[in-house]
Amino acid sequence: MAKVHRFDHPLIQHKLSYIRDKRTGTKEFRELVNEVAMLMAYEITRDLTLDEIEVETPVAPCKTRVLSGRKLGLIPILRAGLGMVDGMLRLIPTAKVGHIGVYRDPETLQPVEYYVKLPTDIDERDLIVIDPMLATGGSASHSINVLKKRGARSIKLMCLIAAPEGIARLERDHPDVDIYVAAVDERLNEHGYIVPGLGDAGDRLFGTK
Ligand code: PRP
Ligand code: URA
Repeated sequence: MAKVHRFDHPLIQHKLSYIRDKRTGTKEFRELVNEVAMLMAYEITRDLTLDEIEVETPVAPCKTRVLSGRKLGLIPILRAGLGMVDGMLRLIPTAKVGHIGVYRDPETLQPVEYYVKLPTDIDERDLIVIDPMLATGGSASHSINVLKKRGARSIKLMCLIAAPEGIARLERDHPDVDIYVAAVDERLNEHGYIVPGLGDAGDRLFGTK
């Protein structure tokens, strides 16, 4: 069964409040989303494994630890997932980045795929799918299907805000994928928007309507 990990670090919760606020403009919204993504990257990488090495400090030899060679891949779901990539790369700069373009049809709320470009070796990587919003779960579930069909074996999903409906969908479709969120909100409204949520993540990030 998929686990839901909620990051209640005070800095993440503080910044999320300003991200939600409708008075926050595009520039600040974009900066805050990247900052929260960086803090979430710190939390989501807690289980990375370490190898022991020896270095010489100016004083003496020292047994110390570095990340073992496990390779990471970040998979933003376009467009809004792009807003979290730079923040994550600040902490894990060697991660490869694959892109999945999916938008949600406004009438049917079904995901429509328009672009896929992935690292060739996704079967050897620990993948983190990133998207600020998990609403019905259609976009995330579709994107994870795309990755699995191409051989992905290790996938986590990281979102800012999730609706209970989206979590239930992911638990049903992908019980092997753990979900990492900053908040779980109340519900979806009749247009499939998360309540209270933050509005349309892509529009707020890129200044569109
Ligand atoms: C938003 C969001 C997710 C999706 C979530 O993207 O970034 O990808 O909706 O909804 P779901 O869980 O019901 O599928 P949107 O379709 O607005 O596209 P955009 O990022 O290009 O604006
Ligand atoms: N997509 C968004 O950008 N916001 C929502 O609340 C739901 C889907």
